[in-house]
Amino acid sequence: MNDAWLSTFRCPKSHLPLVREGDLLTCPHAGTSYPIVNGIPRLAGETYVASFGRQWNRYDVARDEEDESVFQVKTGLAAESLRGLKVLDAGCGGGRYSLLAAKHGAHVLGVDLSDAVEKAAAICAPYPEATIVQADLLNLPLEDDAFDVAFSIGVMHHSPDPRRAFAEVARRVKPGGHLAVWLYRKNTAPQEWLNSALRALTTRLPARVLEPLCVAMGGVGSLPGLNRTLNKVANFSNHPDWTLRVCDNFDWYAPKYQSHHTIDELKSWFVEEGYIDLVALPPMRTGRVYDWAYDHNLVIGSGVNVAGTRRR
Ligand SMILES: C[S@@+](CC[C@H](N)C(=O)[O-])C[C@H]1O[C@@H](n2cnc3c(N)ncnc32)[C@H](O)[C@@H]1O
Repeated sequence: MNDAWLSTFRCPKSHLPLVREGDLLTCPHAGTSYPIVNGIPRLAGETYVASFGRQWNRYDVARDEEDESVFQVKTGLAAESLRGLKVLDAGCGGGRYSLLAAKHGAHVLGVDLSDAVEKAAAICAPYPEATIVQADLLNLPLEDDAFDVAFSIGVMHHSPDPRRAFAEVARRVKPGGHLAVWLYRKNTAPQEWLNSALRALTTRLPARVLEPLCVAMGGVGSLPGLNRTLNKVANFSNHPDWTLRVCDNFDWYAPKYQSHHTIDELKSWFVEEGYIDLVALPPMRTGRVYDWAYDHNLVIGSGVNVAGTRRR
């Protein structure tokens, strides 16, 4: 842990500053203490995200070039523009975007509730300006108005209260700072119904049973033609990289919570939290058929993606 972040941390109970005593962060007011284990402050309470800990520690998904272009599309920012800025990666998972920000000279704090923090801390270890912390976005133990930039890519829809997670992150951005959020898009009613029915089953399966199914779906995801049509019925990944396909499938079918949203809903959250200059960011893929399917909310796993500036 880089001690420069100490003044940004807050006690999850009292919301007052913490003091470092060796490998403990203590709150003199609440009388609570939180361990720093493997250099990672552990400020989280109960977690419901075990599948993510498994997934991100098992699969190596950081891909420099792809991560850089995905980051630009999903945040509206070039990674090199982050140099010297204080950046919050809200729900960093295995740390691919924290790593990218750190490589480009950002002072980045990656926050995640799950054991994925182990992987994130390991890949960010060469960059002392990066710190990873295990904490809950629903009770974010961070100072208000602290970050120049915050982004949250594919995270809040995995919490039981995405709106609250949004509010918690939104108020950690400085006035004049930039926030970008990517959430799953709401699909057509039949797609939503089938997905809920499938996930009602898959989220009850133990990982040792679900994983082989995700591998099998990884096989279907490589079949030309089928891999772009069948996945409009039930979701599976058609990413060209095998590891990413299997990981994406597990990422879809394992997590306890998964909600889908509309662009108007996400924009309204930005407005309610005092953000201006909103931009609806377009998807990465394009093409006549894709654009048509996307506009008709038929692309399962696609996003709604908005960036904005916090009013001064
Ligand atoms: C699909 S992953 C995305 C990770 C990363 N943003 C990326 O794109 O590689 C979602 C992450 O959100 C985290 N998460 C879910 N609910 C959370 C919460 N309340 N607080 C912090 N992290 C949370 C999960 O642990 C998981 O690592």
